Amino acid sequence: MRKALRIVLWLVTGLAVVVLAGLVYLGVAYPRTDDPPDIEIRATPELLARGEYLFHSVAACAVCHSPHERGAFGARVDPARIGEGGEPFPLGSAGTLYAKNITPTALGEWTDGEIVRALRDGVSRDGSPLFPLMPYFNYRTLSERDLQAIVAYVRTLSRRPDDVPERELNFPMNLIIRMMPGPAGPYPAEPGSGAVERGRYLVSAASCGDCHSPMDDRGTPLPGRELSGGNEFPTGDGWVARTANITPDSVSGIGAWTRERFVGAFKARRSGGSPAAGARLSPMPWLAYSRMNEEDLGAIYDYLRTVPPVRNEVVRFVPQRPATGE
Ligand code: HEC
Ligand code: HEC
Repeated sequence: MRKALRIVLWLVTGLAVVVLAGLVYLGVAYPRTDDPPDIEIRATPELLARGEYLFHSVAACAVCHSPHERGAFGARVDPARIGEGGEPFPLGSAGTLYAKNITPTALGEWTDGEIVRALRDGVSRDGSPLFPLMPYFNYRTLSERDLQAIVAYVRTLSRRPDDVPERELNFPMNLIIRMMPGPAGPYPAEPGSGAVERGRYLVSAASCGDCHSPMDDRGTPLPGRELSGGNEFPTGDGWVARTANITPDSVSGIGAWTRERFVGAFKARRSGGSPAAGARLSPMPWLAYSRMNEEDLGAIYDYLRTVPPVRNEVVRFVPQRPATGE
């Protein structure tokens, strides 16, 4: 009996040591990251113009990193507070993130290389891991020139006070995210001149798939169902928005849409002021994307024609609590 007890005790102690060693290892060895690149970006007017376009429109940095106007259509942000951060992103039981201040108030001391590393590898200046809701996995697909354009533009933002609360990440998410960042590797080439190739590049930079692709509970896109929609977002005004199926399925997707209709759907939201009659609040940053030029919107359409069609009927808006037979 006593012998059995001793064995159990040894086993428990042994297990505790292994777990503890594992936690220490996670804390010391992760996140894996390289030194920030030793670069200095020369901001030409062309580079800044490109950076402004990517920041406000394609990559929609401004949408997440500025306070939102409540109840406004298309994720409108306060134009006087661009880059101030503070917008909360609730993660359910995993905790809450807050978009960081990325004006020179917060990033003034960072080197260009440190900002580049944050955008591609997913670590903050001190090497601590960023949660991948900050879409650094997607920004790895940006060319070196485009990434540098964004960093050059971020440097020109007006200073805003930095009152962003610390994120709260609960166990085990606080450990899991240590394993997510990592060296992003070499830059991909600039997209060629073909519309499909440029469309693929833009869809990645704009993170369309983060909302439109069904995922498992660990956030990995379900293979074979990319861009087929159905992910749910509460709109904050009593409705749940579900992402549309944007595969070319002719029944449940956008297979029957012409290029004009697709480009028009974005351009129609450019005024942004009020949604079309009957339209509901959408979490999709329509306002930002609507500022993409027609060529880019057309390229996105051309690329979306080439993804495998998936049959998945989605009702885009449903009441949060369906009225149950009264
Ligand atoms: C979907 C929302 C979203 C988008 C789009 C987004 N970010 Fe972020 N970003 C965040 C959140 C949230 C954090 C904080 C993550 C955390 O605390 O783990 C963050 C963190 C950062 C950081 C790290 C700051 C620090 O102090 O560690 C930088 C730099 C940054 N973002 C810049 C950008 C730029 C530039 C873009 C556009 C190319 C961009 N972000 C697009 C949500 C977003
Ligand atoms: C933050 C999440 C989010 C992102 C990012 C996002 N969408 Fe959406 N999208 C939605 C939601 C939710 C809907 C359904 C509600 C609506 O129509 O606005 C939707 C609807 C659509 C529709 C259908 C509109 C209609 O009238 O039927 C199209 C087309 C579309 N998205 C394309 C895109 C493209 C292309 C991108 C990337 C450039 C993108 N979306 C990025 C959330 C998102």
